[in-house]
Amino acid sequence: MQGKMGLLLLAAAFSAAVFMQMAVATNVVPAIYVFGDSTADVGNNNFLPGNQAKANFAHNGIDFPGGTPTGRFSNGYNGIDYLAKKLRFKKSPPAYLSITREAMLYRGANFASGGSGILDATGRNISISLNQQIKDYEEITRHLKSRVGATAADRFLSKSLFIFSTGNNDMLGFYTVFGLKNATQQDLLIGQLANQFKNQLQTLYNLGARKFVVFGASRLGCVPTLRRAIPSGECAEDLNKLSQQFNKATEAVLHSLASTLKGFSYSFIKVYDIISVVSSNPTKYGFTDLVSACCGSGKFNAESSCTPNATYCSNRDQYFYWDRLHPTQATSRLISNTAFRGRKYTTPVTVEQLADSRRRY
Ligand SMILES: *[C@@H]1O[C@H](CO)[C@@H](O)[C@H](O)[C@H]1NC(C)=O
Ligand SMILES: *[C@@H]1O[C@H](CO)[C@@H](O)[C@H](O)[C@H]1NC(C)=O
Ligand SMILES: *[C@@H]1O[C@H](CO)[C@@H](O)[C@H](O)[C@H]1NC(C)=O
Repeated sequence: MQGKMGLLLLAAAFSAAVFMQMAVATNVVPAIYVFGDSTADVGNNNFLPGNQAKANFAHNGIDFPGGTPTGRFSNGYNGIDYLAKKLRFKKSPPAYLSITREAMLYRGANFASGGSGILDATGRNISISLNQQIKDYEEITRHLKSRVGATAADRFLSKSLFIFSTGNNDMLGFYTVFGLKNATQQDLLIGQLANQFKNQLQTLYNLGARKFVVFGASRLGCVPTLRRAIPSGECAEDLNKLSQQFNKATEAVLHSLASTLKGFSYSFIKVYDIISVVSSNPTKYGFTDLVSACCGSGKFNAESSCTPNATYCSNRDQYFYWDRLHPTQATSRLISNTAFRGRKYTTPVTVEQLADSRRRY
């Protein structure tokens, strides 16, 4: 019995090592590791206690294969799924909490959690903080190294992509609590976010990450839940400015890390710019409604979240927003597909270029 078990383990270790070698020998991205908030979550929050920050019920997932809710805050796929599809994955790697450590070895894992932000205080008690997500990743790398050895693991990780979509909830939370009246206070917030994010990226670099994809913040001030609260129904332009300030600071962080850390490379996705272009000519991109949520109730369909008793639109591909906070899969598809090859909407390289291991930057 003992001997058989030993043999089995040996066989498993051998195949993992062979797989890693094969994976790094090609130009395909071997694994994807995802960090962030509800724009990236594919079901981690399903495993958390309580009812907040969840999407594992109808009408979420109505356009997902099988029409099933998965925990994605979307009518179907999210932006991570579409980027993963471009990288020859079927969709995002599975939610970290939904699979075994062994299953994560080969193609990565998604650690993202709806409600979380860069700061620990953001989404506390209802989500998994970014710092905790990084600790969870650390645990995986330890397992990986014990299975295939440090050298093979490092090579594997250096070709993998580390994708981030975060910061939105930190700004939304700040805006909700303080409003945007005090420029000094806003500068402090952005400084704090940039500083913390820099430390988090550096920690991942120390744990073997080399290729970083970062989704910039969207036009946060235009989410239906905020427009609903403004009598004229316009966007909260002060919050849009804060998003832009955050994006600038994030770009500077990435640039600085790339110029000090050997082998650090990145693609920053200018989500804000992509949305601005779409907004200036929505019909060209197939949208007829940029203002209201498809699923919800009341003014702009933003007075309730997308619960099973909410109503929803039938022409979901023509809506920019799925619920009062999140984009439809049509929007996510457009953003990720644009980021994959769009030189104008990524800096300094596209996601496709970053993924290509034959190139060096
Ligand atoms: C989080 O939970 C702890 C322990 O239950 C509680 O003391 C704390 O007030 C909660 N924090 C927030 C922000 O809800
Ligand atoms: C703005 O915020 C800073 C930092 O929190 C504070 O020191 C200052 O008193 C505030 N100014 C006003 C006018 O409220
Ligand atoms: C759905 O039901 C919940 C609980 O009864 C209620 O709070 C909410 O307002 C309802 N939403 C809609 C859109 O009717």
